[in-house]
Formats: sequence, structure tokens, C-alpha cells
Amino acid sequence: MYKCALVLAAGKGKRMKSDLPKVIHKVCGKEMVNHVIDLMRKSDIKDVDVIIGKGAEIVKEVTVSKNVDYSLQPEQWGTGHAIICARDYLENRDGTVIIFNGDAPLMVEDTIRRCIKFHEEGNYKATLITSILNDPTGYGRIVRDVNGVVKKIVEHKDCTKEELKITEVNSGIYCFDIKSLLDGLDKLDNNNAQKEYYLTDMIQILKDSGKDVGAVVVDFEETLGVNSREQLSEVEKIMRSRINKRHMENGVTIIDPNCTYIGDDVQIERDTIIYPGNVLEGNTIIKEGCTLYPNSRILDSTINERVIIQSSVILESSIGSNTTVGPFAYIRPESSIGNNVRVGDFVEIKKSTIGDNTKVSHLTYIGDAEVGESCNFGCGTVVVNYDGKAKYKTVIGNNSFIGCNTNLVSPVEVEDNTYIAAGSTITETVKKNSLAIARARQVNKEEWVTKQGLNK
Ligand code: UD1
Ligand code: CA
Repeated sequence: MYKCALVLAAGKGKRMKSDLPKVIHKVCGKEMVNHVIDLMRKSDIKDVDVIIGKGAEIVKEVTVSKNVDYSLQPEQWGTGHAIICARDYLENRDGTVIIFNGDAPLMVEDTIRRCIKFHEEGNYKATLITSILNDPTGYGRIVRDVNGVVKKIVEHKDCTKEELKITEVNSGIYCFDIKSLLDGLDKLDNNNAQKEYYLTDMIQILKDSGKDVGAVVVDFEETLGVNSREQLSEVEKIMRSRINKRHMENGVTIIDPNCTYIGDDVQIERDTIIYPGNVLEGNTIIKEGCTLYPNSRILDSTINERVIIQSSVILESSIGSNTTVGPFAYIRPESSIGNNVRVGDFVEIKKSTIGDNTKVSHLTYIGDAEVGESCNFGCGTVVVNYDGKAKYKTVIGNNSFIGCNTNLVSPVEVEDNTYIAAGSTITETVKKNSLAIARARQVNKEEWVTKQGLNK
């Protein structure tokens, strides 16, 4: 049967006390709305319509790569009103629509599939996902009749004393038969404590017109929604521990999962060991057998086999196998570091290529450069890539030995098999197989101190 999804993402999220729309707050490095869209796609739902309103442009911007449709809800008059605003999207479709609150990122694919199957096989016109919470405060309560059949959903603020005691709550995730949903929308009103059009009222509307409504009860964790910063951190903690567990099951050692922060899309191969304080984000890939000592941040980067990294920052770059990085190295975007390379302490590399077996052991800046294989950088080398107006490129051939405290004033070329004397400021090409010395000769003035009467 045809399926599409609506994601409710128009609300401001007052309780977040934020300038940003709620659904773009991140959980484990990814916006909540994108977690939800990704989940839809994993559950084989191709057509996704995101209902936007507050901060519409920002929500569009963060979802731009997801290939979704948008419906605009100019004023936020409630979750039911949000669906009314998506009427055009639904009108020419027939089948099942899955409706999702954009602020509940913990639902899993299996549950969505189970819910759709239950909905379609049972011929229900609506199916809700519910769960039992110890503390149901703030959630809509599921009211069932004596036979246990779902009757209606009552929002927390509209509950009677008795209804407040119900611990089964609405997750904000539903399957609806599209035609039945469209028919029911006209009957929604805002006669309630919040003067809003509640989507949850659709349940009673469908029941009243003699249609069947089903419910699937799932683990409470999956239904947790985010309304406040505190809930954001609770959801983060749960997702973090799920992600870490998944990697440990795949053969990754995580010394302290409570202090290891891995984004949802990060891939890690077996026998990698991760010490506390590591933050791995975006589309990062860590290959087999790496060791990440404490306190690194790695974003959108590929780390090849058996790399060792200590207390460093690596952004949008790739590191070759058997290379060591850090402590305290900073590898900036668009860098490509070869195999068996050493990038040591207080080394910054920006938009540069470093060939295999090259050593950059300490206190060095390499920017906009192409460095060959088996080079050695002495301590304190600086690639002078910026003249105050523009950036220039430096090219260094294979087997070059760059003496300590060398400045390479770009654009400049250092050819293969060369030596540069310590303290040189290189402004012209260093030819193949040669030694360059670019510094003033030393002058010794004997007995100068005595003659000046400066002896102590
Ligand atoms: C909603 C449900 C409640 C359920 C809870 C689960 C309703 C009336 N209540 O309550 O039964 O237990 O979710 O988390 O549906 N939104 C819009 N437009 C609006 C209002 C909201 O797009 O006009 C979006 C929000 O951006 C958010 C989602 O809908 O992503 C849920 O809205 P929220 O205000 O958080 O609903 P709850 O009060 O939590
Ligand atoms: Ca909510």
C-alpha cells in the first residue's frame, strides 16, 4: 500500500527558551527533525512532507539535502491545524500517512514497521503508538474503554483528576488512512484548555463515525519527546548509550561509554579502542585497529587503519593508515595526510597534502601546501602562506629535510632530495639535490663583553 509521512516541525518550542526552532536542536550531533526524516527513509517511506512555520527558513536549510516536501503552517494553532495546512499534500494521495512529531527522535525503525503492519493488516483507519511512563506529566493520556479498546486521547491540560492517573501516553506518532483523516479534519475544533486544534481529537472523531482505531504499545524510551533543555539532555543520553552499545556489539572497545560522544552517522570498524572524552561527529569513518586516546574531536573525516590519535582536532580531512596524530595537533579542513606519517605536538595543518612517511613532529604550521613523501620538518617550521591579501601555495618534493625554524614564503617550491639549513627564510626555488641556506652568517666579536666592561 502507498505510504507517505508528515513531520510536524512548525512549533517554536517555547519551553526550550531558544531563538532557534525546537526541531533543529541537535541530539548526538544531528538535528531532531533530521533524525525523524532519516528514520522515515530507513522504514522505506520515500515521500516525506515537513510542516514548517516558526523558523521555516532555518528548518528548510538544515533539511536541504534530505529531498523532502514542505507545507507551511503560518500560525501555530496546534498539531491538528498543522495537518490542515498539509491538506494539499495529502489530497491527491491514497493509502497510509505516518504522522510524526519532529521532537521525538528516539523511535526505531522496527517499531515503525510494526506499527504500519499492524495498521494495514488490522484495517484500522488510525493506529497510535503509545507507551507507559512512570511520570506521564505533559503527555496526552490514552483513554480506553472497559474492554481495553482505545476511546480517545486527552491532553494533560484537559484531563480530569481520574484521567491524570492514566500512565499510558500518546507518543505523537500515528498511522492514518489518508481519506479518513481528510474527512475528519473538518470536524476538528479548538474547544480545549489551550484553544488549539489538536490532532489527538481525530481519534474520537474517527471512533464517533464508526471507524476502527488501533494502538501499538512500545518501550517508553522510544516515545520520549523533547520540550525542554533538560529533556533534550535526557534524550541525548539515551541515544548516546544506544549508539555506543551498537559499536561495542560490532567489536569496538569503548573504555567509558558515559564519556564518549559518537554521532549517529559515524562508522567505526572493529578493534578500534576509544578512550574517554572523544567526540566523533558527522560522516566520520574510523577504520580497523585505531586507538583514540582521550580528548579528540573528529568531524567529517576518514581515519584509516591503525592510526593513533591523542588530544587533537581533525576536521573534514583524511588520515592514512599507521599514522600518528598529536598530542595537540590541529588538522583543518581539506587536508589529506598519508600513511606512516607523524604529526606531532602543536602542529597545525590546513588545506594541505602530506605524503607517506613524512614527519612533522613539533611546533609547525603547514597551510596551502603539497608535501611529498619521506620529508622531515624540523621544529618550528612555518609555511608563510598569506601576505595579508591572498593565500599562496607551497610545493615540497620527496625526501626534503626542512631544518628547524624555517620559513617557507609562498608561493615557493622545494624540489626532491633537498636540505634547508635551520633558520632559513626560503623565498626562491630550492633545486633538486641541493642545500639551501638563507640566513645571515654568524659574526663572533671576541672579548666584546670585556671591552664593554660588562663582565659580572
Ligand atoms: C503532543 C500531543 C500529545 C503527545 C505529545 C508527545 C497534541 C495535541 N498533543 O503534545 O498527546 O503526548 O505530543 O510528545 O498533538 N507543532 C506544529 N504546529 C503546531 C503545534 C505543534 O507543527 O501548531 C509541532 C511541534 O513543532 C512539535 C510537534 O508538533 O514538533 C509536537 O508539538 P508540541 O507542542 O510539543 O506537542 P505536545 O504538547 O508535546
Ligand atoms: Ca512535544
